Amino acid sequence: MQLNQKIIVITGASSGIGKATAMACAAAGASLIITGRRKDALDALAKELATPCLPLCFDVRDKDAVFSAFASLPPEFSNVSVLINNAGLALGLEPVPHINLDDWEQMVDTNIKGLLYCTQSLVPTLQKQPAAHIVNIGSTAGNYAYKGGNTYCASKAFVHHFSDCLRTDFLGQNIRVTNIEPAMTEDTAFADVRFKGDDAKARGVYAGVQPLRASDIAQSIVWALTRPAHVNINRIELIPTAQAQAGLAVHRQ
Ligand SMILES: NC(=O)c1ccc[n+]([C@@H]2O[C@H](COP(=O)([O-])OP(=O)(O)OC[C@H]3O[C@@H](n4cnc5c(N)ncnc54)[C@H](OP(=O)(O)O)[C@@H]3O)[C@@H](O)[C@H]2O)c1
Repeated sequence: MQLNQKIIVITGASSGIGKATAMACAAAGASLIITGRRKDALDALAKELATPCLPLCFDVRDKDAVFSAFASLPPEFSNVSVLINNAGLALGLEPVPHINLDDWEQMVDTNIKGLLYCTQSLVPTLQKQPAAHIVNIGSTAGNYAYKGGNTYCASKAFVHHFSDCLRTDFLGQNIRVTNIEPAMTEDTAFADVRFKGDDAKARGVYAGVQPLRASDIAQSIVWALTRPAHVNINRIELIPTAQAQAGLAVHRQ
């Protein structure tokens, strides 16, 4: 088993990419700490996985809750060597200035500040391991702007650049850092969350397209984790075959 003996924290494991990653890491033999706000979904997943699994229910925006959850891990889960910062969301697709300021704040608080809290609270543990790895879930949105993407795109650009900065901070410390940058991915609640339960809009995102599957992203994460210790995969950008970067927008008179 490729990930035997590893204790892996996955934030946002109650659905989508995080859940698929939990299943893939469990299949590879890892022990897991899975987090999210929905206790029922985490408990159900923990029961389903045939591996030691600790569900922890907290909101990554709550700094005290994050630090206290990771400060009081039971001994059998305390030697965390992998952190997968996956919890995140997009809200709305309105261009500036027609945005909802609460949505902007929630994206910044979750995708940026929540990721920072989880990272900072676990780095001392990661530094004690002979080999450790932080995997951040960025997005193609962090590389390419799209209309209405504004704060979501910028939050994922933060994740991209923060990953690069972490790599320089940890140079010589045996902590690898990888940024995973998927494009549209199904088997997730991402579009439902973005459009706040408007099913027609959410379904429209994937209409007539074969998007990536959450399991595709999970496999790329397991691949990055299982490279030899001297190999750091900086970033993996994944897009569906049916999608392409189509150049700069032009406004014509
Ligand atoms: N799907 C895509 O097309 C796509 C593409 C590129 C990147 N991504 C990124 O992939 C990551 C996972 O998203 P997904 O597509 O799998 O969507 P998803 O199915 O909605 O999963 C999002 C996860 O994040 C957790 N989460 C959200 N806000 C949280 C908070 N404040 N505190 C704790 N946990 C929180 C959710 O758990 P609870 O609701 O239980 O809290 C859920 O488990 C995100 O970072 C997203 O930006 C997605």
